[in-house]
Amino acid sequence: MGKGRVVPLEALDGDTTDAPRIKTGISEFDRVTGGGLVEGSALLVGGDPGIGKSTLLMQASAALAKAGHPVVYVSGEEAVAQVRLRAQRLGVASAPVQLVAETNVENIITTLQAHTKPALVVLDSIQTLWSERVESAPGTVSQVRSAAQAMIRYAKKSGAAIVLVGHVTKEGQIAGPRVVEHMVDAVLYFEGEGGHHFRILRGVKNRFGPTDEIGVFEMSDLGLREVENPSELFLGERHKAAPGAAVFAGMEGRRPVLVEIQALVAESSLGTPRRAVVGWDSARLAMILAVLEAHCGVRLGNHDVYLNVAGGYRISEPAADLAVAAALVSSLANKPLPDNSVFFGEVSLSGHLRPVSQAAGRLKEAGKLGFELATYAKGSEAMKQPGLRLNTINTLADLVVELLSGDNEVLQRT
Ligand code: TYD
Ligand code: MG
Repeated sequence: MGKGRVVPLEALDGDTTDAPRIKTGISEFDRVTGGGLVEGSALLVGGDPGIGKSTLLMQASAALAKAGHPVVYVSGEEAVAQVRLRAQRLGVASAPVQLVAETNVENIITTLQAHTKPALVVLDSIQTLWSERVESAPGTVSQVRSAAQAMIRYAKKSGAAIVLVGHVTKEGQIAGPRVVEHMVDAVLYFEGEGGHHFRILRGVKNRFGPTDEIGVFEMSDLGLREVENPSELFLGERHKAAPGAAVFAGMEGRRPVLVEIQALVAESSLGTPRRAVVGWDSARLAMILAVLEAHCGVRLGNHDVYLNVAGGYRISEPAADLAVAAALVSSLANKPLPDNSVFFGEVSLSGHLRPVSQAAGRLKEAGKLGFELATYAKGSEAMKQPGLRLNTINTLADLVVELLSGDNEVLQRT
């Protein structure tokens, strides 16, 4: 065996220190990182080409630089002039960000070491970086990996925070951000639907904070604008009292997000009826349809079913089951759900509703936005909200009975 050095073993119970952080001042960004950039850490920001990664990081760099922190922006994709043009468009050209267009990792590190230690170094993008120590071409797995490794080592040694930008790529072409996910301290993905102008920054890994946070931005000519109240954004296009529309009181991390779910159920002329889903899991829709058939007497076997989450938003919570079922039944019956009502609850295969976490937060948001009725799974830990009537139900069949009995207050006649 080789001659190792003895390193001390420590107890679990001992001093802990919070990692020192710098806030960018872009609160949606700081929220997702868990309170700002951690000194000496490496952050990966992944996303489709053209989604707005460079814009976001230029805005964050400028905000930090304006607050007096030295920031270096390394552009491997665009020439200095192009980056300047973007900064001008974003109205941040006066920020003292230092720019360099370079792709060679050794040159980058030597350059960084020759100047005052930056608080933040942005590397846009990892796919353009290359190291002399590796033979293969830039963009290949081994280049991306070793370039990232060199930069992470630099971050640890110098105490500068680094942000690696990575394009999500078609499988097999060039190495994507997944290649470096395990090496960095935190991974954020910047997401959005084509045609919609909002963007979500989502944490998927964070050694220094929670991973279930999202930051919401709206795209504009002047760059990304923070959206403090996402519910208002996703409910913006809401048409009151349309059959087939139900509002789901959702949560993203500890943040409530109210969003409209739209269903269209129509008699099918096809042997196998169509099922199409946007923004939700199609296997989950199949399950809800099966439970409606088996336990609630709602026959949908001869109907085409279309389901859409408004605004291009994507729901991953099972708590949306009840809102989806409400939208489906409402569309089938061609009766609108009551004005200003929200739904949440997870449906089990037996047709029972499971309580949902963070009910109080959901109800609070619904009350704040002027909703008047909340229908949700019994047993969820709720809290009364002024102006909001609470309607707890046990089974999906309860909901169907409420919705389909004509004189029940839960369903308005049209
Ligand atoms: P860009 O930041 O270059 O995307 P990425 O670095 O992820 O490839 O943005 C793509 C394009 O979208 C660019 O032409 C600028 C435009 N854009 C806006 O006009 N407004 C915005 O708020 C954002 C984010 C982008
Ligand atoms: Mg870019």
